Amino acid sequence: MQSSLFILGRQPALGLAELESLFGADNITPVGDIAALVSADPDTVPFDRLGGSIKLAAVLTSRNTTNWNDLAEYIEKTLPQKLNDLPEGKIKLGVSLYGIRTNIQQLNKSTLQIKKALKASGRSVRVVPNNELALNSAQVIHNQLLSPVGLELLFIANGAQTIIAQTVREQDIEAYAARDQKRPKRDARVGMLPPKLAQIIINLAVGLAAPGTILLDPFCGTGVILQEAGLMGYVPYGSDLESRMVDYTKENIEWIEKVSGQNFGARFETGDATELKWEPKPSAIAGETYLGRPFSSLPDRETLSGVMQDVNLIHKRFLQNVARQTQPGFNLCIAIPAWKTPEGFKHLKLLDSLEELGYTRRSFVYANTEDLLYYREGQIVARELVVLIRK
Ligand SMILES: C[S@@+](CC[C@H](N)C(=O)[O-])C[C@H]1O[C@@H](n2cnc3c(N)ncnc32)[C@H](O)[C@@H]1O
Repeated sequence: MQSSLFILGRQPALGLAELESLFGADNITPVGDIAALVSADPDTVPFDRLGGSIKLAAVLTSRNTTNWNDLAEYIEKTLPQKLNDLPEGKIKLGVSLYGIRTNIQQLNKSTLQIKKALKASGRSVRVVPNNELALNSAQVIHNQLLSPVGLELLFIANGAQTIIAQTVREQDIEAYAARDQKRPKRDARVGMLPPKLAQIIINLAVGLAAPGTILLDPFCGTGVILQEAGLMGYVPYGSDLESRMVDYTKENIEWIEKVSGQNFGARFETGDATELKWEPKPSAIAGETYLGRPFSSLPDRETLSGVMQDVNLIHKRFLQNVARQTQPGFNLCIAIPAWKTPEGFKHLKLLDSLEELGYTRRSFVYANTEDLLYYREGQIVARELVVLIRK
């Protein structure tokens, strides 16, 4: 089988756990903390639903060196022949290096050499200049490197070797931005869950579950998770304590259905997740739960401790309520709060009593549980991703 290479996003552990959830640990080989090889045909990979990877590439070959000069020389020699497969017309070429030691000047010098070699073989080429060792998504897309006459070559250090791959998909940053910012209802108070993170949460909850799976978000807020679930082919089912939030979700779902030309068959309800009975029964839960009061700076110890106790109790009652209504094997992925303090992250206490509550916390082969934490510099509240299986 052909190998797919994924370049992981800003928090590689999240991307690795997501890949593991979709393809299984047996099919994954991490490449440093930058990338992962997956035994899957790149043409069959559902890349648009992967929030944790930024590029998908087809592996071309590997070399027993990580020395950039040697690699560049190899490309100069072999690329002219490979380009025979490309249609007529000016070729657009880009090069991205991951874990290869060189500098931008040297890299740009080498790509000009490669350009010369290609010209000498009779093909005209435009090379995208690098201002970083790796091109970003916008550069790849705007320079048409994914078009039939485009080519982005990736060089990824893998121990003493280098994997050489060709990008076939790039994260569609404009589509993510539009889904995030053009929604009619947004609410800074309940937080802004990035659609990429929503996808990761869903993938950790259901893997590659069949279309039509009913996915419940019992703390739906403005509905980011449900919007992404619908786009992935799942039936969104949202509930929230506040009817205003349910109305926001409804309006946002109607908007994304219109924009995407789909009908998700979504369901909504107002109710308290600690006692609501969900009907019809959901197939899985994916949600960003109640994160407690938003803080712009770290509160004093006593205030924080009070907030954590309240939030802990809501989560405990919520999990007890879910356990009453579900069968063993039922899956949940919830993003719960963890507070950044000078002593490190403070976690919800109930994480120590999950077994008593009737759940097993899923661990991943290639991602440490403590790294499944979505955090941005300067924030007080991080989101800890917890994957649970009902015992
Ligand atoms: C962090 S927000 C979720 C934001 C959401 N991911 C979005 O896309 O906007 C948490 C939500 O939980 C709701 N909530 C708080 N306590 C709840 C409870 N006991 N039961 C159900 N919903 C609750 C709040 O109204 C809020 O909308």
